[in-house]
Amino acid sequence: MKKRIFAFLSLVMFLLLTCCRVQTSTASSGHEPLIKVGFSQTGSESVWRVTNTNSVKNALSEKNGYELIYDDAQQNQENQIRAIRKFIQQNVDYIVLAPLVESGWDSVLEEAKKAGIPVIIEDRNVSVNESDLYSAYVGGNFLKEGETAVSWLDSVLKQQGRANDKIQIVDIQGTIGSTAQIGRTEALEAAIRKHSNWVLAAQQSGDFIKPKAYEAMKSILMKTQKVDVVYCENDSEAFGAIQALQEAGLNCGVKNGVIVISFDATSEGLTDCLSGTISLDVECNPLQGPYIAKMIQNLRQGKSVDKISYIDETSFDCFSITRDTIKNRVY
Ligand code: AHR
Repeated sequence: MKKRIFAFLSLVMFLLLTCCRVQTSTASSGHEPLIKVGFSQTGSESVWRVTNTNSVKNALSEKNGYELIYDDAQQNQENQIRAIRKFIQQNVDYIVLAPLVESGWDSVLEEAKKAGIPVIIEDRNVSVNESDLYSAYVGGNFLKEGETAVSWLDSVLKQQGRANDKIQIVDIQGTIGSTAQIGRTEALEAAIRKHSNWVLAAQQSGDFIKPKAYEAMKSILMKTQKVDVVYCENDSEAFGAIQALQEAGLNCGVKNGVIVISFDATSEGLTDCLSGTISLDVECNPLQGPYIAKMIQNLRQGKSVDKISYIDETSFDCFSITRDTIKNRVY
């Protein structure tokens, strides 16, 4: 008899627990089951990155029908690989990956493919042997961003009558091996090859963060102060480089100083653009969450999705920027 009561109670408990689990994994409307997504983010190194994370979190929120499992890899690719393996074990429906660098993803993406989990790559891209290891990529066109910057520089130097002057350029690169660094550096190096009077005076990574860029710029300035242009591969680096330049007694400005070029166009970057310390800020749009949500919906409905989607981006220079542009900025 005791055994029967125990078995009955166990069954009741089991049913109750199952019921609770079903309730927590359904959308707030109570009808559709939540779509389970694992999101592996590189880290939180910049305002740009935090905005990007929030954009994905907001788009893939519970009220929109998602259960999002978020992992911050703290700038470590091994952490990202570990997180993806965990997502596979957790049986997620989709994986969103913002990869730190382009290489080293084949094996883990193969594992996701074997488990039948579609992977969406966002922000930076991956370089893999088989293109079917991921479903789609959404992010910025980093090469184009760099080309926008160098063509702006070319036209400004022409306007200033410096088209044939020797132009000493310093490149503070982003995280080496990331798509953002590869594209932006590639555009600059191509422009330097094209302009026989442009010289790459120094090239060092600032890892997309202010303190590293500050140290890089400081050590470069100890070797040479002949600097016409500093090409910083994001806003955080521009802030560090400007600090080092100013401490060395150099003025930053397009008219009578070092031309500082930057990428991201955060509110803080654009504020420096308005004051003239940053001459050009090329936008890199972090608001990618809605694009990812749309992709997931399309994939779920069996619709075809573009393998590569570049997000809309623009640029701002110190000649045309206004206070209103900054006021309306969301990041
Ligand atoms: O991959 C995008 C870059 O990463 C942004 O330019 C930068 O701010 C971030 O760290």
